[in-house]
Amino acid sequence: MVAVAILAAGKGTRMKSRLPKVLHELGGRSLLGHVLNCALTLQPQRQLVIVGYGSDQVRAALAHHDLTFVDQTEQLGTGHAVQQIIPHLQDFEGDVLVLNGDVPLLRPHTLEALLKTHQDHGNAATILTAQMAEPKGYGRVFCEEGDRASLRVTQIIEDRDCTPEQRQNRRINAGIYCFRWSELARVLPQLQTDNDQQEYYLTDVVKFMSPVMAVDVTDEQEILGINDRLQLATAAEILQTRIKSGWMAAGVTLIDPHSITIDDTVQIEPDVIIEPQTHLRGKTVIATGSRIGPGSLVENSQIGENVTVRYSVITDSVVQAKTTIGPYAHLRGHVAVGQGCRVGNFVELKNSTLGDRTNVAHLSYLGDTIAGTQVNVGAGTITANYDGVKKHKTVIGDRTKTGSNSVLVAPITIGSDVNIAAGSTLTEDVPDQCLVIARARQVVKPGWRLSTQPKPPEASELKEPEPQ
Ligand code: UD1
Ligand code: CA
Repeated sequence: MVAVAILAAGKGTRMKSRLPKVLHELGGRSLLGHVLNCALTLQPQRQLVIVGYGSDQVRAALAHHDLTFVDQTEQLGTGHAVQQIIPHLQDFEGDVLVLNGDVPLLRPHTLEALLKTHQDHGNAATILTAQMAEPKGYGRVFCEEGDRASLRVTQIIEDRDCTPEQRQNRRINAGIYCFRWSELARVLPQLQTDNDQQEYYLTDVVKFMSPVMAVDVTDEQEILGINDRLQLATAAEILQTRIKSGWMAAGVTLIDPHSITIDDTVQIEPDVIIEPQTHLRGKTVIATGSRIGPGSLVENSQIGENVTVRYSVITDSVVQAKTTIGPYAHLRGHVAVGQGCRVGNFVELKNSTLGDRTNVAHLSYLGDTIAGTQVNVGAGTITANYDGVKKHKTVIGDRTKTGSNSVLVAPITIGSDVNIAAGSTLTEDVPDQCLVIARARQVVKPGWRLSTQPKPPEASELKEPEPQ
């Protein structure tokens, strides 16, 4: 049996933020979301998250998971945090993985290896460690001399509690542990606060347990702890490199990868090309053959096969196969664009549906609109969907053409096969198959300029300037 307990009650003072540290975002997930994701790959029987600072926010952020939340109302240290789980695991027998909620780059296989070593050796505790080039800030792990293959831990001392000599030790504590629960439960009540921070340190439990073993990670990037914004940025960079090399290995072309960001939550099919300065976020899915960018932001959207998106912003929308978007288009608030459409420059679509082969090529705004198939929305067509109080719907039938600079005042329904004259302002429904003209007639007043304007002076009437 395996239980997982994630420490997430701290404020994260060094972040200088109102948001609890573990909810800061990293590549489309919270720090805690990353840790939880990694832990869940082990399919633990019990999943506990220890919450305290901003606990309502933390609970809400993880509401869709099946978790036991344990309150640590006062943050008296990592040891105190783990003491809080004792009543929740009274009946539990097995191993408990204790994970810091601020170590988000941990890989599942590292956790599996830790658990395996722990179980194979019958350890009381197994600690994930690393030999760090710059160990500053981390707790130092001290081991018995001798057998290098299995490192016996004697004690862990926090950076601030180390003597200068102890500080030379480069083996650090990652904040990822595996404990035999019966042993941990036995020693947790023995913790004292005799340290620089006057806190109950989880790391002190190793003094009362045996055998305790250290396992060095191979990739020290995995155990980067996030305590401040610089470490958050460093982690983001590492995660981006991981994500992007993963997609390239899976058959996605990235042009100038350094200028591209891709959230951990994005899915991309092979033979997609992502051009420079493009950002793919949230639950975005890009189907094969599509070319996204340069200069585009696609968020929580589904892009079909062979779609082209250039210099555009697409959020919460669906774009079907063979459609081209942009340059400079903005799709937001649940737009669905059909197959083979063209959405061109300076077009904004909001909460609208376009049928297959419909074009909105230039300078238009369609809001709360349902347009049929093969509609041609002329340049400068605008739906006046908002009367200052409510939003109203516009419906445009199949094969209808709106003339340039038409205004469709919603609520309005325009039939199929309609031609709307340029410059029309439509306020009433239009039946199928007709031409509709709704604009003032042109008035020409002949000779107006001659009869009303004073005559310009003749050249001979202009005075020469006085010589100076
Ligand atoms: C901790 C370890 C240190 C290790 C480092 C790795 C201790 C005493 N030290 O230090 O050896 O090198 O992690 O990243 O454990 N938390 C609570 N309740 C509390 C205090 C903290 O839930 O009362 C949570 C925090 O939200 C965080 C985690 O525990 O997710 C670690 O706390 P933090 O204060 O960042 O510990 P470090 O000083 O980094
Ligand atoms: Ca930390």
